[in-house]
This record gives sequence, C-alpha cells and structure tokens, in this order.
Amino acid sequence: MHKILIIGVGSIGERHLRTFRATGRVEASICEPNEQLRNTILERYPGTRGYADLEAALADRAAGHQIGLIAAPSHLHIPMARRLVEAGLNVLIEKPLSTSEEGVAELAEQIRKSGVLAAVAYTYRSHPALRGMRDAIASGRFGKPVQVVGTWGQHFPKYRPAYRQIYYTSRATGGGAIQDVLTHAMNAAEFLVGPVDRLMADADHLVLEGVTVEDTVHVISRHGPVMGCISLNQHQAPNENTITVICERGTARFDLSNARWSSMVEPGGEWKLEYQFSLERDDIFINQANLFLDAVEGKGPVACTFEEGWQTLRVNLAVLKAVENQCWTNVR
Ligand SMILES: NC(=O)c1ccc[n+]([C@@H]2O[C@H](COP(=O)([O-])OP(=O)(O)OC[C@H]3O[C@@H](n4cnc5c(N)ncnc54)[C@H](O)[C@@H]3O)[C@@H](O)[C@H]2O)c1
Repeated sequence: MHKILIIGVGSIGERHLRTFRATGRVEASICEPNEQLRNTILERYPGTRGYADLEAALADRAAGHQIGLIAAPSHLHIPMARRLVEAGLNVLIEKPLSTSEEGVAELAEQIRKSGVLAAVAYTYRSHPALRGMRDAIASGRFGKPVQVVGTWGQHFPKYRPAYRQIYYTSRATGGGAIQDVLTHAMNAAEFLVGPVDRLMADADHLVLEGVTVEDTVHVISRHGPVMGCISLNQHQAPNENTITVICERGTARFDLSNARWSSMVEPGGEWKLEYQFSLERDDIFINQANLFLDAVEGKGPVACTFEEGWQTLRVNLAVLKAVENQCWTNVR
C-alpha cells in the first residue's frame, strides 16, 4: 500500500482522495487547514489521517508518507512541492503547475538531484480516448498532423456554483478561464501534436456574474509546422469539448463530453467511432491514480511529466501576455 498525503481537500482534493482509495492501492492522509472541512472529510472517509498543515504531516514519521498530492490553489503549488521533494516524497501536482515561473527551475533541479518522481495532474492525459487517439496519430495512420482545432464550452456556474468564493476569482491564485480551463485544452493539444512555440490570443470577461476575470478565450498557436486554433467559453449551455486533429490523410476528433474519439478518412464520409469510454468522471481520475502508482512502482511513465506541465505553464503565461500586448508571443 502506498502512503499518500493529499494536500488541500476542496473540490478536487476530495475527488483525488475518493479515487486514489478506489484503486485499493493506497493508505491516505489529508492536510487541510479548514478545520470544519477537514473533519467532514475525515468522517466521510474512515481510516484517513488528518493534519492542519504540511509541517505537521511531514513531522509524523510514523505515517511514512511516500507520495504528496498537491490539490491546494495553484499559487501555492511550487513552495509546497519544494518542501515535499526536500522531504523525499514523490509528487503529483494539480494543474496548472503554478501561476508564474518563480521557483520552477529550482524545483526541477531539486527533483533531478533527489530522484523522486514528479508529475502534473493534467487529467485528460489519463483519458483512454485521448490516449488512444494520440497513439493512432503517432503511428502515422492518418499521415502527418497539419492542424489542431479545439472547441470548448461549458456553463461553469452549473458545475462549479462556488466559483465566486474560490481561487477562480483572481489570476493571482490561478483563476480565470486561461489558467483554470484553457490550460487543459492547450495541454491536450500539446499531447496530440507537440509543444506550442508561439501564439496569439484574445480574451475577455463577457458573461459570468460576480467575477471580473476572463470567461472567454481565443488562441491561435504554432506547434512547429502544425497550426492550432482553440476557442473556449465558460457560459454556453451545451457541454462541448472537442479537439480535432487534421492530418494529411485523415481527421481524428476527441470528444470529451461524449468520452470518445472518432476518425474520418473519406472526404465527405461518415465519422467512424474508434473508442467510447464510460461517462463516469471519477473513472478518468481512477486511471490517473493507477498510472501514477504504476510509475512509482517503475511499471511505466507518468501521464504528464513535470517538464510537460512546465511547458504548459509557459503557454498559460504566454497566453496572458499575448492578451495584454495583443501580439504574437514566443512561449520560450
Ligand atoms: N484536474 C482537474 O480537473 C482540476 C479540477 C479543478 C481544480 N483543479 C486544480 O486543483 C487545485 C485546487 O482546486 P479546487 O477546485 O479543489 O479548489 P478548492 O478551493 O475547492 O480547494 C482548495 C483547498 O485547498 C486548501 N488549502 C488552502 N491553503 C492550503 C494550505 N496551505 N495547505 C493545505 N491546503 C490548503 C483550501 O482550504 C481548500 O480546501 C487548483 O490548482 C485547481 O486548478 C484541477
């Protein structure tokens, strides 16, 4: 049994607790400063150890924590990860890796020297449909990718009614559509066709009540020779999350809302369903947990490496810069 310490058990931390426990491969502890929330979670998941802060958790040698999962707001990720790596724990860090590059190179060096495993929790990389589509593209079945097009939209208040009270309200704590949700789409696009070199972006606050951060974003990107284009909003009625990769001899489409990927090779033909997954959101998180635990056991790579998460952090920062300066922006 792996001894995992989950830091922050708000919305996603509780999901990680539930889904890591569902693997049957962990004993879990939590670290949560909010006393009422901590007690609620400890009651809901019997057998879990609880701590009010990270130092108290790390001081409890008897607990033998081997993995730290950081699910606190993003501006806290880097100092927490540095402390965990210093204490010799493997780390799984929620997306985005941070809200700036401060301390990231130092953390990378610390990870390299200590030899612990580090990964970033870009959840869709554990989605079997996205993984299957990526493998099919990489096999050359459709020829070389030339274009990636993302269409993302969802009614955020329906799925996150507390959005006015959490980190989402400020870019400084990881809020706004760019750092919170677009980052998933950009990371998935990079997974499919390679890293973004340069980009141009537009964003605005159009609809969401009670916040001033952007809720609508358009990005044009270059991934080497591949041209990219992603649009996203957090207020439309339909759940729509697709990423289409157009290749020389065929087109592949990941459809997150319907948990499947499809292809089309005949001009004007029919979509061919390639793979459909269960629609339970927890299942993707259980996959993510199993992939990470497999990697800890040396049985395979992590779904998203620290370096890949760092690259997407640079993309987030370049998008914010491009919106501000209204011009093409290099990612490195
Ligand atoms: N992968 C995904 O699909 C996904 C979805 C939502 C959020 N996230 C990411 O997960 C992180 C948390 O998001 P959330 O929606 O759960 O936020 P949240 O506000 O619901 O929960 C954050 C929790 O962290 C706790 N916290 C704050 N300071 C802490 C500290 N010093 N030590 C320990 N805990 C602390 C808070 O008390 C709170 O309970 C963010 O980085 C966010 O971007 C990822």
